[in-house]
Amino acid sequence: MLHSALINVMVKAARRAGRSLKRDFGEVENLQVSMKGPANFVTLADKRAEEMLYEDLTKARPGYGFLGEEGGIREGADKSHTWIVDPLDGTTNFLHGIPHFAISIGLQRDDTLIAGLIYNPATEDLYIAERGKGAFVNDKRLRVAGRNQLHDCVIACGLPHLGRGDFALNQREMAALQPKVAGLRRFGTASLDLAAVAGGRFDGFWERNLSPWDVAAGIVMVREAGGTVGDIHGGDVLKTGNIVCGNETIHAELAKILKPLG
Ligand code: IPD
Ligand code: CA
Ligand code: CA
Ligand code: CA
Repeated sequence: MLHSALINVMVKAARRAGRSLKRDFGEVENLQVSMKGPANFVTLADKRAEEMLYEDLTKARPGYGFLGEEGGIREGADKSHTWIVDPLDGTTNFLHGIPHFAISIGLQRDDTLIAGLIYNPATEDLYIAERGKGAFVNDKRLRVAGRNQLHDCVIACGLPHLGRGDFALNQREMAALQPKVAGLRRFGTASLDLAAVAGGRFDGFWERNLSPWDVAAGIVMVREAGGTVGDIHGGDVLKTGNIVCGNETIHAELAKILKPLG
C-alpha cells in the first residue's frame, strides 16, 4: 500500500525505535529502572526510544516541535507543527514481560491532530491514520464496531493505581458500568486501547488523567475509523486527558453515565 510521505517518515522512525524496544524487552536487569513517582517507572528503553524518535522525526521534518513523555517539549522554528510522542506506552507491561506495549506518535498542526501512528513492536501490529484519509492496521482498513447497545459491548478502561488517580471515583464508575456491559477490560496501554476501539475489538474506552502523548495518535485513529472521541465533560481531551470514545452511540451512552460521576 502506498502511504503519504508523512506517514512514511513516521513508520520509518517507529520501526527503528521499535527494534530498540524489542532488543530491550526482557532485559530488565540492564535497563536502569527508576521511578518518577510511586509506580511510575522509566527505563533506559523509554529514553533510548525517545531519542531515536526525536532524531529521526526532526531530521525528516526540521523545525517541527517535539513533545515527548521523557524529554518534555523541545520547541522548533515551525510553531504550527508538533510531534506528540510516547516512546514506550505501557512501561509497566514492558517491565513485566507482557508483550503489550507501543510507540505512539501523533502530529498536531495548530490545534488539529492530523496524523497518528501506534506500533506494537512485539506483535508488529502497525496502526496508522491521517486526517481525512482513514485508519489502517498493517494496511487493512480500520472501522469502529457497530454495536449500539451497551449490554452487547466490551468496554476497555484504565484503572487508578498506587500514586495515580481517584479510587473513589473509579469505584463509582465501575459500579455504574459493570452491570450494564457485556465485559470490561483493562490491558494497561492506553494507545493500544484506542487502537482496539478503532479496529472494533473494543466497543468503547474511557480513562481519566491521561497525558497528550498517551492519546494524540489514538484520537486520530478512532476518528478516522469512524468513531467519536471526546473529553468526558465535553472539554478539550488533549488538555484534560479524560477520554471517552466509541461509535457515536456508545460514546454518547458512556459519556452520559460517566459525566455525573465526576
Ligand atoms: C500509561 C499507560 C496506561 C495508562 C497510564 C499511562 P506509560 O503510560 O498508557 O495504560 O493507564 O495512565 O500513564 O507511562 O506506560 O507510558
Ligand atoms: Ca511513563
Ligand atoms: Ca503512556
Ligand atoms: Ca511512556
